[in-house]
Amino acid sequence: MELLDGKKCAESLVADISRKVAGYIGSGLRKPHMTIILVGTHAPSESYVKSKIASCGRAGFEGNLIRLPETVTEQELLAKISGINNDPSTDGVIVQLPLPSHINEQNVINAIAPEKDIDGFHPTNFGRMALGQKAFRPATAYGICKLLQFYDIPIRGKHCVVIGRSNIVGKPISIMLANDFDIGNATVTLTHIETPRELLLDETRRADIVIVAVGIPGFVSEDMVKEGVVLIDVGINRLENGKLVGDVDFAAVAPKCSWITPVPGGVGRMTVAALMINTLMAYENNFNLN
Ligand code: GUN
Repeated sequence: MELLDGKKCAESLVADISRKVAGYIGSGLRKPHMTIILVGTHAPSESYVKSKIASCGRAGFEGNLIRLPETVTEQELLAKISGINNDPSTDGVIVQLPLPSHINEQNVINAIAPEKDIDGFHPTNFGRMALGQKAFRPATAYGICKLLQFYDIPIRGKHCVVIGRSNIVGKPISIMLANDFDIGNATVTLTHIETPRELLLDETRRADIVIVAVGIPGFVSEDMVKEGVVLIDVGINRLENGKLVGDVDFAAVAPKCSWITPVPGGVGRMTVAALMINTLMAYENNFNLN
């Protein structure tokens, strides 16, 4: 069993980005600029946002955080997004999810200018991605692809089972891995909460690659996977004792895997690295550098 080290891979990708950025700044351009909007003080969001801002520093980007109170209205949030859409000094914008229940998440995502949508959640980017056109790819899914690529894990023709159909992970990763992309061409099964248990087991037990994103500690047990599986654990769950764990029973399952992502230090780090790649792409588009 070997670890798919998201920290190492992310550091390597961010180092490549910072070299590029240094070149651009050397030629007189401003820094790439990411703006993050955080509504309220949801604890996991606070921690994700902190790591995104820290990564901006390492990549040589300007990263700025706009905090809005839990009580902000949808209209006020949409007005803030509109301001950023029209501000040429910002290349990419993220509205950290989840949002308070009085705000319609879809309205907010739809309000972000597609050319600044570094999360890749806007219907224009999601649609372009699904059609195999150039787009900002959803960051967690893209990060998983970059991690598999970094470790030369074969994907073409492999049987990949995705557990969880969320718009931010399961749905996009299943489309991306099935697409005729640079990192893709797998045979993909997308399973979800309505998949009967027996069918789920049939699928996971013959999968070459399993990607799980359900937010349930220990969801993937040793009996669910075959010997030599590549296991990608997207879960980040905080236990009552404060420990962070994924969706996989790591101690029991890891010995069966050829490769597995740790939690923390796996996919979470890659989400941030993929956001950096997307922000650099937004910046390069802005300045016609590609
Ligand atoms: N919340 C959990 N993951 C994400 C993500 O990738 N982007 C945003 N904006 N919010 C999230």
